[in-house]
Amino acid sequence: MYYPDELVEEIRSRNDIVDVISTYVKLKRKGNSYFGLCPFHNEKSPSFSVSQDKQMYYCFGCGAGGNLFTFLMNYENYTFPEALKVLANRCGVELPKEEYSPEAKRQADFKSMLLRIQKEAATYYFYQLKRESGKQAYGYLRGRGLLDETIRRFGLGYSSKFSNDLYQFLKGKGYSDEALKESGLVTMDEKRGVYDKFWNRVMFPIMDANHRVIGFGGRVMGDGKPKYLNSPETRIFDKSRNLYGLNLARSSRKPDIIICEGYMDVIALHQAGFSQAVASLGTALTSQQCLLLKRYTSQVLITYDSDEAGTKAALRAIPLLKEAGLTARVVNMKPYKDPDEFIRNLGAEAFQERLNEARNSFLFEVEVLEHSYDLRDPAGKTAFFEETATRLLEFGEELERNNYIEAIAQKYGTGYQSLKQLVERRGAALGGVTPLPRPRTSGERRKEKEEEPEKAQRLLLTWFISDERLAGIIRRYVEPEEFTDPLCRQVAEILYQQQREGIRNPAAIITRFEDLGEQQQVAAMFNAVLKQDETPEETEKALQEKIKRVKQDSLAWETKGLDSADMAGLQRLLAKKRELERLHISLD
Ligand code: UTP
Ligand code: MN
Repeated sequence: MYYPDELVEEIRSRNDIVDVISTYVKLKRKGNSYFGLCPFHNEKSPSFSVSQDKQMYYCFGCGAGGNLFTFLMNYENYTFPEALKVLANRCGVELPKEEYSPEAKRQADFKSMLLRIQKEAATYYFYQLKRESGKQAYGYLRGRGLLDETIRRFGLGYSSKFSNDLYQFLKGKGYSDEALKESGLVTMDEKRGVYDKFWNRVMFPIMDANHRVIGFGGRVMGDGKPKYLNSPETRIFDKSRNLYGLNLARSSRKPDIIICEGYMDVIALHQAGFSQAVASLGTALTSQQCLLLKRYTSQVLITYDSDEAGTKAALRAIPLLKEAGLTARVVNMKPYKDPDEFIRNLGAEAFQERLNEARNSFLFEVEVLEHSYDLRDPAGKTAFFEETATRLLEFGEELERNNYIEAIAQKYGTGYQSLKQLVERRGAALGGVTPLPRPRTSGERRKEKEEEPEKAQRLLLTWFISDERLAGIIRRYVEPEEFTDPLCRQVAEILYQQQREGIRNPAAIITRFEDLGEQQQVAAMFNAVLKQDETPEETEKALQEKIKRVKQDSLAWETKGLDSADMAGLQRLLAKKRELERLHISLD
């Protein structure tokens, strides 16, 4: 759904950033800004600032920043349309309805009916748990260490012993047989008639990331089989695209997400304070689930069962996670089977220690590999190192690869140089699959220099936004095209346009960037604190320098891109260069 820029801006400007953020963070006024404890990192003294004037926030501690949309997208993990909806509601603006074809509308209506059915069922199961007939189920859950608060938060319930209790209940609410059949909660059979899918089980409602119930898992109380029964896939329940617990984990404000195997593991972890735990839905982790996780984190901790099946599952999950751009580490649960058992026996603190000690996924893979070789036998040891060397080739970056070579050499007691040579020989033998990059000389220093043009450009933009007079000077001497950094150029274009129109609205500029990382960089530019102790003369001198610097960089950049046969272009550049040498930047 596309929303016009004017509407987006209208909605943003009708919601005051201080009002909204105050509902999440305790803010105190200090001069022109409001300050509070940053919700995006842990801190004891407030470095999180909200500016009413700019309608932006910025944290001087961790660099988080942006406008109201950025805030909601980061804090609540909303997508842009979700954030927009919330803010539109808040200020009473009506968003245009999505236009559906009649068929699409019918489909959408049917889907929302299926969602209503799941919700009704969840409420029903939850209510059964509280009744006399649910006593055993309630006792079962309490006996497994769950608090009432936890039972409520996860909406756990009980499906009664009668074979079509839920069916009767839902029928009574007016749902058709067709709909109930599609809900996966009821089975219809010519011989046996209609019966509920779940009976006499404790019920775990499965929710999507937006807290909507989409299916159920049901556990026998005791040793019956199957241990867990799950809803079949339906139009609203796709097991490969959802994760149990993600609705809560997405706003856990933890730097990572823990994935485990079972519903009970997720629940036990949340109860112990690890509210970033999720689980797949009775199937192996899928690539879609990895991409879903990527929306909320960049680091995943795998806490699969400590048995062989769990190890296998971890080995399968690691490449999928990596492919989605996530780093994975593997947590050791031994001597316990799973996180639930671990926590019940050793408690949350011990679990946190295990998280801290989590093994890097590559080292975990090598450790597993180790078990298929006899390292006491020289031939076995050689074969192990050869296989490890081949795997080390997967690191294309030399620095990273060397770090791993070092770690492996240390761990398995072999020389760094000899392992490195082995890796290089394997690389060559495999036809140079990964060409070994030549060592870079003084790479670090060069990098610093390369970053500098960007710095000068950013500084100009910071001045531009903070001081009307400086903005005028900058605009006189520097064109937006002269900002060679693409982000700076975009910002400059918008800022210049605003200045031409006589407006100043940094928060609106942020909305123009879709990427949260970019929003943050722009916010940093707009909130950078200029040197306080600088005299006006010093600022002016610095301004002159930076303007020249940016123009020089721009020329250098243009020269680089010039075709050597383009004589006219060369002439033009030379003229510009001479002009720049003579340029005097006047400050009035
Ligand atoms: P586990 O057998 O490891 O169960 O299955 P668990 O989570 O430790 O459960 P408790 O502690 O015995 O109650 C892990 C997950 O695999 C799926 C479920 O999603 C379960 O949470 N599973 C397991 C099934 O779907 N069906 C089964 O019969 C067993
Ligand atoms: Mn378990």
